[in-house]
Amino acid sequence: MKIGRLNHIGIATPDIAATTAMYASLYGADSATPPRDFPQLGVRVVFVSIENTQLELIEPLGESSPIHKFLEKNPKGGQHHMCFEVPDILVARDAMRERGATVLGTGEPYIGAHGVPVIFVHPKNSDGVLVELMQTPDHS
Ligand code: CO
Repeated sequence: MKIGRLNHIGIATPDIAATTAMYASLYGADSATPPRDFPQLGVRVVFVSIENTQLELIEPLGESSPIHKFLEKNPKGGQHHMCFEVPDILVARDAMRERGATVLGTGEPYIGAHGVPVIFVHPKNSDGVLVELMQTPDHS
């Protein structure tokens, strides 16, 4: 198993409108989707398209949002994860485990904000960086 393209970089923010506006005004990255709520994931998301990848801006939604803990440590927000494409999420999950990595949650892939199956690998396995793997068979 080898990771493919960088799909997106996840950025947590306490104020998704302000962060969206900042990327537009400061960097000219003005190709943003409207905010979309994913109550089942506990997040509100904006995707900002840039030439070779995407930013995934993430604001917590609801009391049990997984983003709350991150924002407690980083109240102004910050880089949360990076996401690489893989052709088969179960092959990737099993490879991660065989290589000694910890897959977060139950380890069962679930449908993320992009509408395809994802898993997350614990930051302790990647020198502090939370890594998302996303199944994208089209690019395999
Ligand atoms: Co993501």
